[in-house]
Formats: sequence, structure tokens, C-alpha cells
Amino acid sequence: MICPVCGERLTEKNRSLICPKRHSFDRARQGYVNLLPVQNKHSLAPGDAKDMLEARRAFLDRGYYQPICRDVCDMIKKYSPSVSPIVVDIGCGEGYYTAAFEKNCSAYCIGVDIAKEAARMACARSKSILWTVATASHIPVESGSADAVTAVFSLFVNDEYARILKKGGIFVEVTAGSEHLKELKKLIYEEVFEQHKHPCAGGKQFQEVSLLEKRFVFELDNTELKELLAMTPHSRRMKKERLERLYETERLSLTANYFVRVLQKL
Ligand SMILES: C[S@@+](CC[C@H](N)C(=O)[O-])C[C@H]1O[C@@H](n2cnc3c(N)ncnc32)[C@H](O)[C@@H]1O
Repeated sequence: MICPVCGERLTEKNRSLICPKRHSFDRARQGYVNLLPVQNKHSLAPGDAKDMLEARRAFLDRGYYQPICRDVCDMIKKYSPSVSPIVVDIGCGEGYYTAAFEKNCSAYCIGVDIAKEAARMACARSKSILWTVATASHIPVESGSADAVTAVFSLFVNDEYARILKKGGIFVEVTAGSEHLKELKKLIYEEVFEQHKHPCAGGKQFQEVSLLEKRFVFELDNTELKELLAMTPHSRRMKKERLERLYETERLSLTANYFVRVLQKL
């Protein structure tokens, strides 16, 4: 790990990470480390809010998105340059996917999220993962040290991911396709515009080694539907009468549609 202020290597002493220039970062009671200096923090509480994170945990623990998790694990196992890879999960949220990478890919994982509440909650998923509060644009990880960077419904910061990956290391990304949760969007919005989504270009530091478009259907009851809505930004944009209609929906069949892309660092 590197110091987010000066970039020097951090070493751990008595539950604090300290660099040679004496910048020091304490582990919180739960175990995470806050490596987000104020100058990299553009609002008081950046990232996802507590209610969204709690709804996401409740929803993900029901297992409907297990196929997505399995797809990413398969890509790590297939393309990572090491058998026990170092995996940096960006925008890890409350840690559902990161914990699965540790368990299923024999990985040493570092979870990165800009929301302090996400890191706090993630600590309950695994004690051996290093959970950090940090930004994707200044990842506190040494250059050329990671076997894999993952971003599940999160962000792609081309140069920074290329910096922390070793040569031959991989970036595994999950992005939503144009039909993702289309049935929910129809309930929420008067008009749903077809967006032909496709992952953005990888730049010249990467070559694409795999791109899969996936689909599956799952059915939710009313409680699960409310959780799914609450973990997305849609709930904040909805008109009251639409929200009421959704609250009256007893069951809904939904489409998951997403891309799993693997880029390899050249
Ligand atoms: C849509 S959520 C996905 C969370 C998780 N990967 C999952 O699928 O359950 C995106 C996450 O990225 C985090 N995030 C947003 N901007 C970020 C940034 N600049 N650096 C790191 N994390 C960020 C949010 O706090 C949120 O937890």
C-alpha cells in the first residue's frame, strides 16, 4: 500500500499505516483504513449513502446476482497471471463481490470505495480483506503490483488501473446492458429511452481479451423489489404516483443484462 499524500510505501505498526514521511492512517475499530485525504474528497460524504448500501446488502444476500459474481470469478481464474492473485476491487460497496473473489479465486483482496459507510459495512464480510476508503483516481496501491482490478457496476479510470496492474494483469469490468432491469424502468419512468450501451474503449495500455454479453431472468416479490429500487439511484428520481404503483406490485419478472469485459495490460 502507498501513502495517499506522498506516494511512499506504508508499513503497519500497532494498527496504523505509516509512511517514511510520518503520514499516518489508523485502522478504524471495524478494521478498515481511511486513505482518502481531504484534498481528494469533493463532498462531505462522497459515494453511496447508508440506506442504499443497506438495501444493496439485503438484495445481494438473496443471491439473485450470483450468476454475475460467478462470471467475474471465472474471468479472474481464467485470465489472471497468478494462481493466488492480488485483486483490487474498485467501488467495492458493502463487499459482496470482493468477499466472493477472496473465497472462490484464492485471492488476496483489497476493497476500495469512496464511501466510508461502505468500508465500515464491508468489514463484516471478511477480516482478511484490506478494506479502504479511497478514490478510484488515486488508488493507494503500488504501481505494477496487482494481478487483477475489478469494477462491478462501478467505474473505469484507465490510467490509474493501468498504473497499479502488473504487465499481463487484467481489468475485469461488469457494466449494465441496454435491457438491464428494463421492466423496473418501465414502472418508474413514463418513457424509457433505448440506450445502446457498450463498455467504453480500453485505450492503448490495454488489449481486450474477452467481451461477453449476458442475460438472465429473475422474479422478485414486493419486499425484494423495494430493496432493488432502494439500492439504485432511480428511487430518488421517481414521481410519487409511480412509487405507489411500484409499492402495489406483488411480483415482477426482471431481466438482468450486462457485459463482462476483460482487458489485459500490455
Ligand atoms: C453501483 S455501486 C456498486 C457497488 C458494488 N461493486 C456492487 O456491485 O455491489 C458503485 C460504488 O462505487 C462507489 N464509488 C463512487 N465513486 C467512487 C470513486 N470515485 N472511487 C471509489 N469508489 C467510488 C460508491 O460509493 C458505490 O459503493
